[in-house]
Amino acid sequence: MATILAIESSCDETAAAIIRDGKLLSNIISTQIEVHQKYGGVMPEIASRLHAENIGVVLKESLEKAGVTLEEIDAFAVTRGPGLIGALHVGLQCAKTLAFLYNKPLIPVHHLCGHIYANEFIEELQFPLLAIVVSGGNSELVIMKDHMEFEVIGKTRDDAIGECYDKVARVLGLPYPGGIPIDKLSKEGKHTYHLTVPLRGEETYDLSYSGLKTNVINMVHNMEQKGEKVNVPDMCKSFQDVAVGLVVEKACKAVKDYNVKSVIVGGGVSANSYLRSELQEKMSKLGVHINIPPIWCTTDNAAMIAKVAEHLYERKVFAPLDIGVDPNWAIDKWNEF
Ligand code: KG4
Repeated sequence: MATILAIESSCDETAAAIIRDGKLLSNIISTQIEVHQKYGGVMPEIASRLHAENIGVVLKESLEKAGVTLEEIDAFAVTRGPGLIGALHVGLQCAKTLAFLYNKPLIPVHHLCGHIYANEFIEELQFPLLAIVVSGGNSELVIMKDHMEFEVIGKTRDDAIGECYDKVARVLGLPYPGGIPIDKLSKEGKHTYHLTVPLRGEETYDLSYSGLKTNVINMVHNMEQKGEKVNVPDMCKSFQDVAVGLVVEKACKAVKDYNVKSVIVGGGVSANSYLRSELQEKMSKLGVHINIPPIWCTTDNAAMIAKVAEHLYERKVFAPLDIGVDPNWAIDKWNEF
């Protein structure tokens, strides 16, 4: 029986969780969203400082909620990447210090493995599977034939889908994080604006969001210059149809080509209601099982890091104390550090 404490600090959530034999004992998250809202996006330096301020309280709360003392922890896990470099450092230094003080293993966890394995809180993974990881910093299609085996078949060639949502929201005068208001307003709008669809119908599983973002920004600026009013719900709907449509198209192609048994989703954008309903409909037509996890599983948290850490603890994937963070760590290199 192992008790693992996990820390997550890759972006704008400071989080700690404690897990014991698959059972989540605590899952504490302190979000910085309100602070970053003033800037319309995450300010990396501010994020790092806030992690440093908050991490002590978050740790204390996670231990109290779990009813566990630091002496009872068997391993300290932490997100090592990908993410914001300064933000990652706060979590890693904290985990290293604890591992050193209590003479326990240090487990470095890949953030996107976390988003994938968050699904294990809901049901066992059924292989081969397609994982759709869509967040503020990443957009990847990953094939898994077994536990901890990741083959990235497609990823964004430029911006992540969440980043695109956030930038489009900003030009429309909507608050950060932009995915939430765009998703909401889309329900009131119609698809009336013509936006170009990147990489549609092409052989690749790759995604692309920079062109779509520029397309919306230019269209809004042109209309403003001409004194025309942008219909915000219609623009949200037109944008969302294209942004989500691309992921769904590539996911369907991957499901057919790789003959997968199930599909899972992860990352903040997988909270999107249109993405969820489209995937459910299209995957059931293709006869493939799809797991749509509850929202708490999809956004950044430390429970998902703890879940991966259990697999790594079993495999004894431990890191030395001189390890550094990797803001661009590739998922298929999860055991190289
Ligand atoms: O995974 P996450 O919490 O943080 C990282 O990027 O690691 O994802 C945050 C992203 C933001 O870009 C936010 O706009 C997007 O997830 N998001 C959504 C929705 N809720 C959050 N995007 C589309 N629809 C949503 N309902």
